[in-house]
Amino acid sequence: MSLNNEQILEILKTIKYPGFSRDIVAFGLIQSIDIKDDEVTVKLTIQTRDADIPRQLYGQIREALENMEDIRVAQVDIEIKEPPQAMGKKPLKGVKKVIAIASGKGGVGKSTTATNLAVALAAQGLKVGLCDCDLYGPSVAHMMGNEETPYVDNNDRMIPQKAHGVAFMSMGLLLQDDAPVIVRGPLATRYTQQFLEDVAWDFEGELDILILDLPPGTGDIQLTIVQTVDLTGAIIVTTPQEVALIDARKAVSMFEKVNVPLLGLIENMAWFECEHGKKYYLFGKDGGHREAKQLGIPLLAQVPLEEQTREQADQGLPAAALKPKHSPTSKIFTELAKTFI
Ligand SMILES: Nc1ncnc2c1ncn2[C@@H]1O[C@H](COP(=O)(O)OP(=O)(O)OP(=O)(O)O)[C@@H](O)[C@H]1O
Ligand SMILES: [Mg+2]
Repeated sequence: MSLNNEQILEILKTIKYPGFSRDIVAFGLIQSIDIKDDEVTVKLTIQTRDADIPRQLYGQIREALENMEDIRVAQVDIEIKEPPQAMGKKPLKGVKKVIAIASGKGGVGKSTTATNLAVALAAQGLKVGLCDCDLYGPSVAHMMGNEETPYVDNNDRMIPQKAHGVAFMSMGLLLQDDAPVIVRGPLATRYTQQFLEDVAWDFEGELDILILDLPPGTGDIQLTIVQTVDLTGAIIVTTPQEVALIDARKAVSMFEKVNVPLLGLIENMAWFECEHGKKYYLFGKDGGHREAKQLGIPLLAQVPLEEQTREQADQGLPAAALKPKHSPTSKIFTELAKTFI
C-alpha cells in the first residue's frame, strides 16, 4: 500500500506543541510533506527562542514516523525562526495594560480573584475593565451582581456593563439564561478573539488595566488569548494542594512559551480561620508559597477560605467591595491593588 499525505498528517496530529494541548498541525507548523516510495520528509517552521522545542519536536516526529510500518526512512527538517517581539499579538484598543488571571485546575478561585482584584483596583482610582473569557462556565456577571444584556454602540461594539466601579463584559451576558454553549475548537477561538476586539473598552475613556478571567486549563480559548492579545502579564491562581499545583505549573509553562511575563502567584483557600482564631490548613500549608519560590515568581497574596467571600460572590457583591476593616479578604486585595498603582 502506498503512503499518502493524509496518513502522515494523522500521525503528526498526535504530536502536541510542547506546553500546549494543541497539536503541531493545528498550529500550522507543517510546511510540506514529501513522500518518495517508503521515504518521507516532513518540513516544518517554528518560531521560538527555546532550543528545547525543536529538539523535542524533532525526536517525537522522527519516532512517530518511524513507527509507521510503511516508512523506511523518515526525515525531519525544522526551520527555526526568531519570533518577532510580539508574535502576532495585537494590543487591545482602548486599554493600557492587560493582565490574565489563569490556573491549570478548575474551581480554585480565578473568577473570585479576578472580580476582587478588579474591584480593589477600581477603588484605588484606576479605570478598570474585567472580561470573563469563560465560554463554557461564565460566572463573572453573577459575581458582579449585574446580568443585564449589554448595548451595542453605533460602530457595532458592545458597551461593557458597570458594577462596583468596574467595566465588565462576560460571555454570560450574551447568553440566554441556562442555554448551554456548544462552541468548540476553531469556533471557540474565533468567538473569543472577536469578543475581545468587539468590546468598546474605552467607552468612558482609556482603561488603565483590563483583567481577563481565563477558563481553567490550557485549551483553545487560552491559546487564542496568549497568542493574539499583547498581555502585560499573567497571575496564576492555585490552591495549596499538589493536584492544583501540578496544573498551575502547566499554566506557567504555557505563558513562558509565549514570553508573557508572570507577575506572580496567588494562593487561594490558603487556610480557614475558625471563630476562636485557630487556623486550619484544609488544602495543605504554604503549597503556593513554596511553588512560587520554586518557580522564581513572587507570591502576591495568600487568601483565606472565608464563608463571607463565597456568600458575597453568590450575592453579586465581591468581598473587595466592602471596606478592608470589614473583611480580611478585602484587606488582602486592597493591599495587592496598591502595588499596581
Ligand atoms: N477564598 C475563598 N473563600 C470562600 N469561597 C471561595 C474562595 N475562593 C473561591 N471561593 C468559592 O469557590 C467557588 C469557585 O470559585 P471560582 O468560581 O472563583 O473558581 P474558578 O477558578 O473561577 O472556577 P472555574 O475554573 O470553574 O472558572 C465559588 O463558589 C467561590 O465563591
Ligand atoms: Mg471561573
